[in-house]
Amino acid sequence: MYAKRLDNLPPYLFAQIDKLKTEKRAEGVDIIDLGVGDPDLPTPPHIVEALCEAVRDPSTHHYPDYTGMIQYREAVASWYKSRFDVDLDPKTEVLALIGSKEGIAHVPEAFVNPGEYVLVPDPGYPVYKTSTLFAEGKVWEMPLSEENKFLPDLDAIPADVLKNASLMFIGYPNNPTAAIAPLSFFNEVVEFARENGIVVVHDNAYSEITFDGYKAPSFLQADGAKEVGMEMHSLSKTYNMTGWRLGMAAGGEEFISGLGRVKTNIDSGAFDAIQRAGITALTSSQQSVADACKVYQERRDILISGLKGLGFDVAAPKATFYVWMKVPDSMSFARKMLDEAGIVVTPGTGFGRNGEGYVRFAITRDTNRISEALERMRRIDF
Ligand SMILES: Cc1ncc(COP(=O)(O)O)c(C=O)c1O
Repeated sequence: MYAKRLDNLPPYLFAQIDKLKTEKRAEGVDIIDLGVGDPDLPTPPHIVEALCEAVRDPSTHHYPDYTGMIQYREAVASWYKSRFDVDLDPKTEVLALIGSKEGIAHVPEAFVNPGEYVLVPDPGYPVYKTSTLFAEGKVWEMPLSEENKFLPDLDAIPADVLKNASLMFIGYPNNPTAAIAPLSFFNEVVEFARENGIVVVHDNAYSEITFDGYKAPSFLQADGAKEVGMEMHSLSKTYNMTGWRLGMAAGGEEFISGLGRVKTNIDSGAFDAIQRAGITALTSSQQSVADACKVYQERRDILISGLKGLGFDVAAPKATFYVWMKVPDSMSFARKMLDEAGIVVTPGTGFGRNGEGYVRFAITRDTNRISEALERMRRIDF
């Protein structure tokens, strides 16, 4: 009944974890869910208000513009200018997305012929691989290792792969490793992409979730970035809007146009009322973002010092709401946490085989729950 391409997909780990979680809850277990990266904090009230107002205006009830409202694209361009000092033409270099996952999932359709390689970080956000497989491309895993600060080693990619590679995904601040990348790395990537004729998609979903004064760069700040690719961004993590489904692609005109051609044939754009709320999010005070980072930073500090106290080898991340921790065996550690303590963490292998030896904690629960999780962990014999 199902098409063969479904057989090629790895199982979506989060769906499996959801199933286990539901089973445990049905048994009456009080689950502490540090699994999926979905902020527990609400969308700031001024953004909610903007949506309510917009949705009462019947002009928002029609099919949206395929590429996004021009006012939304202008808001994205002005946010990029003020945040990163990057100039974008809102008409040709910005595209509205129904969440960045949607954009990422459609990119290979535009740039990858069947049988061509896509360079994908491993561990990495699972959609890079699955979208490659949907487009009948071939996945080339770029291992992210601690020795290389969880950056891919571009020199390690074989020449015969490079000859047949058309696309590369990267993303910093990184999910799941929480690693950050300096602008110099993005400059190297631009050079590499130019030499090898590869389109680069940088996934910058976490650029605003940063700590200790760190400010994450945009890939588009690298010299010539717009000549080789584009950046995916999202309002999901920055403004606690995961359920709203609004994001953007920004970058070189031909790349934005290629993705736009695919999307025009598949979806009919993001709801105008949500785009109007998105304009408010991007153009009004960013205090709520700073406040959220403070909340995550406090949680991070509690979790890291608790885990260190338990004898684990773990570093405090500078960005993202994830903690990537070394363990002897990913799957059995995650299983033990769930079975013996009712805590959900994500095994590193869910992000690719190079995630073996790690688990990911999402600090999307309040400090009481994080302290409670540490208390429960104290009782486990690891
Ligand atoms: C690295 C990364 N990119 C993209 C996304 C997708 O976010 P959204 O589709 O909500 O914009 C996520 C969500 O977890 C993510 O972790």
